Amino acid sequence: MTNPTLTTLMARGSAFLGCDAAILCGAMSWVSERHLVSAISNAGAFGVIACGAMTPALLDAEIAATRALTDKPFGVNLITMHPQLFDLIEVCANHDVSHIVLAGGLPPKGSIEAIKQKGAKLLCFAPALSLAKKLVKSGVDALIVEGMEAGGHIGPVATSVLAQEILPEMAQQVPVFVAGGIGRGEAIAAYLEMGAAGVQLGTRFACATESIAHPNFKKAFFRASARDAIASVQIDPRLPVIPVRALKNAGTEAFTAKQREVAALLDSGALDMGAAQLQIEHYWAGALRRAVIDGDVEGGSLMAGQSVGMVTREEPVADIIAALMTEAAGALAKRAA
Ligand SMILES: Cc1cc2nc3c(=O)[nH]c(=O)nc-3n(C[C@H](O)[C@H](O)[C@H](O)COP(=O)(O)O)c2cc1C
Repeated sequence: MTNPTLTTLMARGSAFLGCDAAILCGAMSWVSERHLVSAISNAGAFGVIACGAMTPALLDAEIAATRALTDKPFGVNLITMHPQLFDLIEVCANHDVSHIVLAGGLPPKGSIEAIKQKGAKLLCFAPALSLAKKLVKSGVDALIVEGMEAGGHIGPVATSVLAQEILPEMAQQVPVFVAGGIGRGEAIAAYLEMGAAGVQLGTRFACATESIAHPNFKKAFFRASARDAIASVQIDPRLPVIPVRALKNAGTEAFTAKQREVAALLDSGALDMGAAQLQIEHYWAGALRRAVIDGDVEGGSLMAGQSVGMVTREEPVADIIAALMTEAAGALAKRAA
């Protein structure tokens, strides 16, 4: 079902992304590879490859393989703390990737220039209004505002609050995409009406038919409810770890042990803070791989957002997008009536 109001509200985001529906499928490490990304873009939304800890050679192959499956635009998500960030930017430039999403903190010196020099549009996460302003001043083309309801690495503030703080101030200047906790189209309609150019969803797409996630991983999602998707806790004040939202399992406890181990190495001087944080990130990458690829839903990390309760069965990406658009259109039509 299309609705002229929905089309109008999504027009800016769609034009920015170069697709019909201003809905990004947020990059999910191990999940957002060629199959899911191309399916999302082919269905009229916007897929994003999760580079995660990939080497430049692996990213090169993944972009080429995705291109072979779609002629629609898609993006690449790069993590700022990746030791080869600039090589990865180069790989994207060689493939003329149109959109890059930088995640994991403020863009390091020179990275914004390197990305924009090659003509790509740059999206960054804005965890607070002050940072949103700073990012736009430094040349970022669009913002993603992601609340703590989301799956994966999260900030401390809820989506609803960030949207109220950031949209009125920033939505005139650059397209702002809202993420975190969105499971249905009614919520999409509400954020669009508040000034968002579009939205980003991860959890809702993780178990799509085209997702290569292991059947065990998908089953865990279908069984879970919102309250099962909990944020990790920091056990040592000296070691600030970015919280991760995932379904509670034995891996949740294993992370506590990992933090103790890394904190001890930090104390002994065997690691500096940067290296300690990188170890934590490598831990997550490995744990997520065990769950997504190997199907180890006990020991691995089942990163999931609170919207997981609305993921109840495997569905093709096109059906998920159609349902979201129908729900959004229905909500807007109800308001108009
Ligand atoms: C399994 C999983 C892995 C994720 N990995 C990444 C990642 O590698 N990089 C990133 O920027 N965001 C990552 N995210 C966040 C998503 O891109 C997206 O912003 C988030 O899922 C949106 O919130 P939602 O889960 O409530 O839909 C991940 C999320 C999930 C559920």
